[in-house]
Amino acid sequence: VSLKTYNTFGIDVNANYFVEVKSVDDLREIFKNSIAKTKKLLVLGGGSNMLFTKDFDGIVLKISIQGITYQTQGDDVMVTAGGGVVWNDLVTYCVENNFAGLENLTLIPGTVGASPIQNIGAYGVELKDVFTSCTAFEIATGEMRTFSYADCNFGYRDSVFKNELKNKYIITSVQFHLNKQAKLQTHYGAITTELEKRNISSPTIADVSNVVAAIRISKLPDPKTIGNAGSFFKNPVIEKEVFDELVEKFPDVVNYPAPNGKIKLAAGWLIEQCGFKGIVVGETGTWKNQALVLVNHGHASGQEVYTFSEQIINTVYTKFAVKLEREVNIL
Ligand code: EPU
Repeated sequence: VSLKTYNTFGIDVNANYFVEVKSVDDLREIFKNSIAKTKKLLVLGGGSNMLFTKDFDGIVLKISIQGITYQTQGDDVMVTAGGGVVWNDLVTYCVENNFAGLENLTLIPGTVGASPIQNIGAYGVELKDVFTSCTAFEIATGEMRTFSYADCNFGYRDSVFKNELKNKYIITSVQFHLNKQAKLQTHYGAITTELEKRNISSPTIADVSNVVAAIRISKLPDPKTIGNAGSFFKNPVIEKEVFDELVEKFPDVVNYPAPNGKIKLAAGWLIEQCGFKGIVVGETGTWKNQALVLVNHGHASGQEVYTFSEQIINTVYTKFAVKLEREVNIL
C-alpha cells in the first residue's frame, strides 16, 4: 500500500499492511489476530508530523474513530471527541457552538488522537490548557485505560506518550474542558497585530479563530499543494547562562521566557540567520515565509529531506552552538 496520501509530506513509501480502525472493537479484533502481535506497528492519525525515510515493514493502523459529544454545566463544557476526528473539524465545531478554548489551535493539521502525544500548540495556547483526560487502548493487553492530565506529563511538544509509554497505547478519545464564557488568549504578538489591523477591539471566539487561520495561511504552506509537516524542529530551550553568552555575540537573537528560568529561542530565526530561509535544495528546502518548515517540492524522498535537515542542524550548531532537535518523527 502506498502511504503517499497518508502523510502530509507527501513522501511515496509503501507499507506491507494497512488497516483502517473505526472503533475500539476494531482494535480488539485486530489484536486478537496473532499477525498483529508479531509485526511492527505504526499508528497513524493525519500523518502530519512524520517523515518516512524508507518503506514501512509492518502494519499501519489508520485511526478513524469518529464522534463528538458534549455535556454542559453552567458555563463549563466538557467535549469528548473520537481519536480519528480531524483536529480542525473539532475546532470548527466548537467555534460554531461558541465553546471557547480551541480557537487559537485553528487549522493545525492532524487528528484529535494525536494531539496529546506531542501536546500540540500555537499562538499562546497548548493542548494541555484545555485537556482533561483521554482514553487509550493498551496494545499489550487490549485493555482500556483513562489518562488524567497529571498522568500525561505534558511538556513543550512532549508527553508521556513520547517517552515511557511510547508505542504502548492507542489514544481512542480525548476529553476537553471548554467554556461558554470566552476567555480569549490574544496576547501572542501576531494575533494582537492582526486584530488591530482589522479594527477588532473586543474579539469573539470566531474572530480569534479567523485571525489565527489568516496568520497560518500567510506563513505556512498548505500541505495539499506543498508537502510539509509544519515546524520541522522544536524551538530550542536553553539555560540562562548559555543564553547570556549567546546574546553577547548575537544581540538580536529572538527569545522568549520558558519555564524554570530557561529561555526558548526561535528556531526559525536561527535557521534564517544561516541563510536557509526559502532556499530550494533539489526537491526539498525551507518555506519562503517560515524557515522552520521543510517542504517537499513534489518528488522529494524522505532521505533527501532528512539529509537536508542534518545540514541545517550542523550549520546552526556551527554558528550558534545550539543543537536543534527534530519535532517531526523520523521513520
Ligand atoms: N522567525 C524568523 N524567521 C523565520 C521564522 C520565524 O526570524 O523564518 C522568528 C520571528 O522573529 C518570529 C518568531 O521567530 O516572530 C516566531 O515565529 P512564529 O510566530 O512563526 O512561530 P515559531 O516559533 O516559528 C511556533 C510553533 C508553531 C506555531 C507557532 C505559533 C514550534 C516548533 N512551532 O513556531 O507550531 O504555529 O509557534 O504559535 O513550537 C508546529 O509545531 O508544527 C507549528 C507550526
